[in-house]
Amino acid sequence: MKATIKVDAERIIGRVDPLIFGHFIEHLGRCVYGGVLDERGEYRQELIEAMRRIRPSILRWPGGCFADGYHWRDGVGPRDRRPIRVNLAWHNADESNRFGTDEFVAYCRRIGAEPYICANVGSGTPEEAAAWVEYCNGTGDTAYAKMRRDNGSERPFGVRYWGIGNEIDETEHVNEIGCLSAEDYARAVREYAKLMRRVSPDIRLVAVGSNRGEVDWNLTVLEKAGAWIDYIAQHGYYGTDDHYSTVAGPMYVEKRIRMLHAAVELAGFTTGLERQIPVAFDEWNIWYRSRSDTEQRFEEVYELKDALFVAGTFNSLQRMCGIVKMANLAQMVNALGMIHVDADGMVLSPLYHAFDLYANHTGSTVFDTFTLSDTFDTHDRGGPRGLGPLTGVPYLDASATMREEGSRALCLAVVNRHQDEPIECQIRLDGFSVGDSAPVFELTGSGPGARNTPQEPEAVSVKARPPIRPGATFVHTFAPRSATVLEIPIAGQGGRAP
Ligand code: AHR
Repeated sequence: MKATIKVDAERIIGRVDPLIFGHFIEHLGRCVYGGVLDERGEYRQELIEAMRRIRPSILRWPGGCFADGYHWRDGVGPRDRRPIRVNLAWHNADESNRFGTDEFVAYCRRIGAEPYICANVGSGTPEEAAAWVEYCNGTGDTAYAKMRRDNGSERPFGVRYWGIGNEIDETEHVNEIGCLSAEDYARAVREYAKLMRRVSPDIRLVAVGSNRGEVDWNLTVLEKAGAWIDYIAQHGYYGTDDHYSTVAGPMYVEKRIRMLHAAVELAGFTTGLERQIPVAFDEWNIWYRSRSDTEQRFEEVYELKDALFVAGTFNSLQRMCGIVKMANLAQMVNALGMIHVDADGMVLSPLYHAFDLYANHTGSTVFDTFTLSDTFDTHDRGGPRGLGPLTGVPYLDASATMREEGSRALCLAVVNRHQDEPIECQIRLDGFSVGDSAPVFELTGSGPGARNTPQEPEAVSVKARPPIRPGATFVHTFAPRSATVLEIPIAGQGGRAP
């Protein structure tokens, strides 16, 4: 099979926001207790080191659905005096509150991520959220700032990113607490934003976009509360047992984000709000509900095809850099986790390695990329948030970014979705002064279902391949079921953002 990719140095479309390399931890199953914290309640050092290697930009917490039943005061102060509560969202284990705000912020610092806290709208109040902001960011003598200092943190935490509730639109959602109508939620957003900003004016607020993709919800929230928010959220879970349906998943991601952005544009037009409200894709992943256990631990075993979904999603997010400014994989460890840990050790799933490929081998200035390849159709719904069968999905999917730090390189990220065939691709780079030798990094495995296990932990991982000799026009063959980055050295100014 043959294909073509063309990149033009003059066709810069924007810059990638580093916050797209974000993660999420929730008090769900063994994510926090047994994941972030080991069996003795200590930070799991090898997990911290693994996270640092993929440079997480932001970490969302405490949920998810858990957030709308969580009262932050339960999780601060001496740990042995914190109350044990029923986990109202995920009733699989009691909540010890051993991991609370101070521990979360400390954890973010250890892994090098910005903290992003989701406030409780479902069963909380604007005052409670404002008090939480004060606890984190307050500098004066007020009660909650003092409480933080009394708990051992003299300096404010400086938590900049705050969510106003989670998936609160979904009335049928069995785990979500306190669902609201769009009108009521928009009113809540205004109240939350007003009080939270009164305490800490520079915070950035994320409002709930419809989890079901309901246009009416999005328009109402954007029209009535758009002026108070900095991001509108979207969540998306995809994946089926079928290889092609799963690797085509980024088509749904892209379509649903573009639809939400259309609502942003429309609401901007009707309200006269000139400022753009970017999308925070703050929960996304593959979720094989059918395979998850009944105790709601959701410990999925991810495969190569799921990593190709992640790679394709990064291509989409890079191409949509003008409208998506944050994304958080749901979740980091154990529950829907890209990393699996237990008392015996740690396994980095194929998803982790897709993060490694994109976080460590792509750049920030994005170029329009023309890709021409054969296509395929899919035949099922495409997972929980899939939009049904797809036609005309290209086998080859590409994104081009310029890495400016260190030596300049045009990072051409290419996913070959074909299950068994290599694709011989003619690559044309217009207006770049291309260097001699380009490192190649490839993520693939023995079959679409290839997995990492304790016995074979690197069955699916990023491997350096022999460097290639690129040119203004050259041919590269992409392996079947693979994600590859060609780091093409660029001399001079070509392709530099104005
Ligand atoms: O990530 C697991 C759950 O999925 C989250 O709590 C919720 O927001 C979503 O439905």
